[in-house]
Amino acid sequence: RPRVLSGIQPTADSFHFGNYLGALRQWVHLQEDHQPFFFIADMHAITVEQDPKVLRERCLRAAAQLLAMGVDPERSAIFVQSQIPAHAQLGWVLQCLTGFGEARRMTQFKDKSAKGGEGAASVGLFTYPILQAADILLYRPHYVPVGEDQRQHLELTRDLAQRFNHRYKKTFRLPEPYILKSTAKITDLQDPTAKMSKSASSPGGIIEMLDDPRVSAKKIRSAVTDSGSEVRFDPEEKPGISNLLTIHAALTGESVTALEEQYAGRGYGDFKKDLADIVVDVVTPFRDRTLELLDDQAYLTSVLTRGHEQANAVAEATLRDVFARVGFVAPA
Ligand code: TYM
Repeated sequence: RPRVLSGIQPTADSFHFGNYLGALRQWVHLQEDHQPFFFIADMHAITVEQDPKVLRERCLRAAAQLLAMGVDPERSAIFVQSQIPAHAQLGWVLQCLTGFGEARRMTQFKDKSAKGGEGAASVGLFTYPILQAADILLYRPHYVPVGEDQRQHLELTRDLAQRFNHRYKKTFRLPEPYILKSTAKITDLQDPTAKMSKSASSPGGIIEMLDDPRVSAKKIRSAVTDSGSEVRFDPEEKPGISNLLTIHAALTGESVTALEEQYAGRGYGDFKKDLADIVVDVVTPFRDRTLELLDDQAYLTSVLTRGHEQANAVAEATLRDVFARVGFVAPA
């Protein structure tokens, strides 16, 4: 069975629709016929300041949400990044293979450091994509299901894998990004040319999976739509309604073309009202299940402990190969 690996940062109280449609749904589907490793990227979260108590809470909330979404601990190793020392250890080796200029070209650092200025950003934020490469390569996955915003990090990961394999000995598999074109970039409901994002979106622009469903319904109904009134998919001219069509199609499994026909001559209002109802139907059971799971911390911890054991064994074995090939002396 081909392996898949992916991660998500515990940097908000709730996952949002971009996470869900862009990546997490694919995690659930891929479980069927792959061997999955899914983790909570708490080490990536501390590249920007975090409150320790909140971080710990969000980590467990993330685990509960993954389970509520259908990530199945019987089939997937679900684990917390910081529990596996090999991530940081391989991260170091890969840092030593990465050019400064190469790291500098990563656009996420440019975006994220733009606000406070480069001088205020942490070195961890700068080397973030290299740690991500280590996360991935340790497990030798075939596919990495992510949204479009991670594509550049996947390219760096492949470059570093190739460089290591070439310089030392073939050690890493070159992973393929698994990015679904239709949902690769879910946009902000209030600013539909920008990505829906936990750090950048305004409250009205983002649908949080754990929000009160009535609030989410309202956000859909008041999403920015475009001039005109025709429900038609055209991301250039009509980014607002196109984003909503993408969300509708993804949630119902209908094609965008079928939806265009269904809403021909009916206007935005009807369409948004129907979509709001669909969103409520999706988030309500999800939220109930997550809250239920959060009441059972012993179960959550047991899932993460099992995931840790499974993942650590694989990661340690890869790291041993890497250290030997680099020329590190192993303990007797
Ligand atoms: P993160 O935590 O920002 O997001 C988790 C996943 O959600 C996807 N995503 C989106 N997809 C479509 N439209 C959007 N608006 C949207 N917003 C977020 C992201 O692409 C991602 O797949 N660096 C990663 C975490 C990470 C990781 C890894 C991922 C660390 N190590 C190794 C894969 C493999 C991140 O910050 O994702």
